[in-house]
Amino acid sequence: ELPNHVTIKEVGPRDGLQNEHKEVPTEDKIAWINQLSEAGYKYIEFSSFVHPKWIPQLKDAKEVAASIERKPGVTYAALVPNMKGLEGALETNVDEVSVFMSASDTHNKKNINKTIEETYPVLREVVTEAKQAGKTVRGYLSTVFGCPYEGNIPVEQVIKVSRKLLDMGIDELSLGDTIGIANPKQVDAVLAQLKKQLSFDEIAMHFHNTRGMALANVLVSLEHGITTFDGSLGGLGGCPYAKGASGNLATDDLVHMLHEMKIETGLDERKLEEAAIFVQSKLDKALPSHHMQVLNKG
Ligand code: HMG
Ligand code: MG
Repeated sequence: ELPNHVTIKEVGPRDGLQNEHKEVPTEDKIAWINQLSEAGYKYIEFSSFVHPKWIPQLKDAKEVAASIERKPGVTYAALVPNMKGLEGALETNVDEVSVFMSASDTHNKKNINKTIEETYPVLREVVTEAKQAGKTVRGYLSTVFGCPYEGNIPVEQVIKVSRKLLDMGIDELSLGDTIGIANPKQVDAVLAQLKKQLSFDEIAMHFHNTRGMALANVLVSLEHGITTFDGSLGGLGGCPYAKGASGNLATDDLVHMLHEMKIETGLDERKLEEAAIFVQSKLDKALPSHHMQVLNKG
């Protein structure tokens, strides 16, 4: 049986914008995030505190954090890779920080310059210190359904790294299909295995829509009792180096599917649309979600 309510966590300002070629001016990011706050989200990942040489698009995380309007009841989160990132985030009084690592060593090294084993103590310290500062912590695990360098990742490896992250004390684990390679049958098989080892109350799914399979993968996840999904409004994101490659699962398409299925999200479709039109106007491209394609044609 499918759930009556689904929580969508908006990661567009972080995962979307980090992959957009064009840098959106700080004041426009702030205006956009304020629009998102009004659309009914309970969770917005607004930026990341990573090295600006790696992700120049988000180098204004501090300014963004300082100027967005904090709507009561909304959790404002930022991604942090290490203690330096956490220190920056804590200076801005975020509600939650998210740590991240990969299930595959090669992707982990390329992304954060450390092996999996080297990453554990770094993240353990970040989680402990964040908790001590009174913050909740989210963890992301990347390349759960496949790695661009190593190919298929054994589910035992996913369970092992997930367990390590949960044992550090994270409040929620978001399982990432980083390169949008998962298929519904695979998601079904992986979740069936994970269910035996982990409590799904603390699991979210983070799909990318690179090959158009994200919504199908959501449906299978819903059937397994997953009720939290990450989305990026308008399907913002994608890879700046791969022309035409689309980004995260589009929040607007996900909301449309869920509402048509009589599953509540608490989100206001009209306000989402306004926010999507706004951010699209700040980029040099049409947003790739199906919803925005229909709108742009009309
Ligand atoms: P490193 O070079 O190994 O870092 O980078 P280091 O500790 O050796 O320090 C080198 C220099 O970086 C030092 O500066 C540090 O101060 C500085 P210097 O002394 O040379 O002047 N530094 C920092 N500066 C700013 N912010 C920081 C920071 N840390 C050190 N936090 C590091 C390691 C992790 C910093 C680097 O690899 C990095 O920034 N990576 C960013 C990776 C990233 O943002 N990836 C995208 C997000 S993950 C994702 O998208 C996946 C997800 O969506 C889920 C999914 O889809 O699967 C979450
Ligand atoms: Mg992602």
